[in-house]
Amino acid sequence: MTAPEPPLALLAELTHRCPLQCPYCSNPLELVQRSGELTTDDWRRVIDQAADMGVLQIHFSGGEPTARPDLPDLVRHAADAGLYSNLITSGVLLNRDRLATLDAAGLDHVQLSIQDSETETAERIGGYKGGHRRKLEVAGLVRAAGLPLTVNAVVHRQNLDRLEAMIDLAVALDAARLEVAHVQYYGWALKNRAAFMPTLEQIERATETVDAARARLAGVLVIDYVVPDYYARRPKACMGGWGRRFLNVSPAGKVLPCHAAESLPELDFDSVLDRPLDEIWRQSAAFERFRGTAWMPEPCRSCDQREVDWGGCRCQALALTGDAGNTDPACALSPLHGQVFELARTESASAPPAFVYRRYGNA
Ligand code: SF4
Ligand code: FES
Repeated sequence: MTAPEPPLALLAELTHRCPLQCPYCSNPLELVQRSGELTTDDWRRVIDQAADMGVLQIHFSGGEPTARPDLPDLVRHAADAGLYSNLITSGVLLNRDRLATLDAAGLDHVQLSIQDSETETAERIGGYKGGHRRKLEVAGLVRAAGLPLTVNAVVHRQNLDRLEAMIDLAVALDAARLEVAHVQYYGWALKNRAAFMPTLEQIERATETVDAARARLAGVLVIDYVVPDYYARRPKACMGGWGRRFLNVSPAGKVLPCHAAESLPELDFDSVLDRPLDEIWRQSAAFERFRGTAWMPEPCRSCDQREVDWGGCRCQALALTGDAGNTDPACALSPLHGQVFELARTESASAPPAFVYRRYGNA
């Protein structure tokens, strides 16, 4: 196999600790404890190795990355290494001083999550009292610091009917971009799937709402829209293809092709504590397993979309078919597609079960 191009971006999952408990979190059910996290020096080395291998962007994520007191140090290290840095945060641990420190350290961009436009539902979903009001304040502080802001809104059956209000909120918060992402069912979200699965009618209304808002807000707000897999006709090109554009480093230092890859039991993932990042990217068995098209079964193998969607998502194929090497059943060409569509319809037609909140020991 020819050597892969360097990845575009590194997702640095600094910690699994988080004050919120969103049941749609894609983190694994077995959360890494604080004592198992990489040290500041480990992360500095990872950042240097990423820059050396040609990575252009670093996304500081988690869990909640601001739970790590060394975040400004890591942001500065990334800036010194020439990386564009993005902070993906719930915002609730930020204040004016911490933002000023991050800004001075060279942070380039902030992505702030909201759970809803309404306080009560937002705080019920996030499992954190006072969180929604705090987020609105922090959005103001981000903009006052002159940092560009993207709002992330994860949508599902329990908040989709307020999508228009969430779009209006993003405009009011002076965001340049809004990511409207239907829940992707990995980790905790897979455990809570029935609580989140929207109806087909909700999806159709949401698509109309996004289309209308895009036309109305051209030049004001860019809206990215991640469609829900279970009702799709074709799968998403998950991570832009396995081992093609992105790599993740977990809080414990495992190097993963995607945030949910540890759910694939057949694969062993190398650690930045044992091997250099570049070597893992180019040579590790886990990255090679689903890279390119040679691994594909039919119908992907002879499909003209195979270098467009790269066969969809391996973690979803595992979750829904029991084999990560199958065609993602989000694809209508998969023999299992009809079953997935029916599963979505059945789950969305029943009353939503109670959330299993994402917290240590709750798996
Ligand atoms: Fe994509 Fe495979 Fe479906 Fe073709 S058959 S559209 S490559 S998932
Ligand atoms: Fe793992 Fe899609 S989330 S390949």
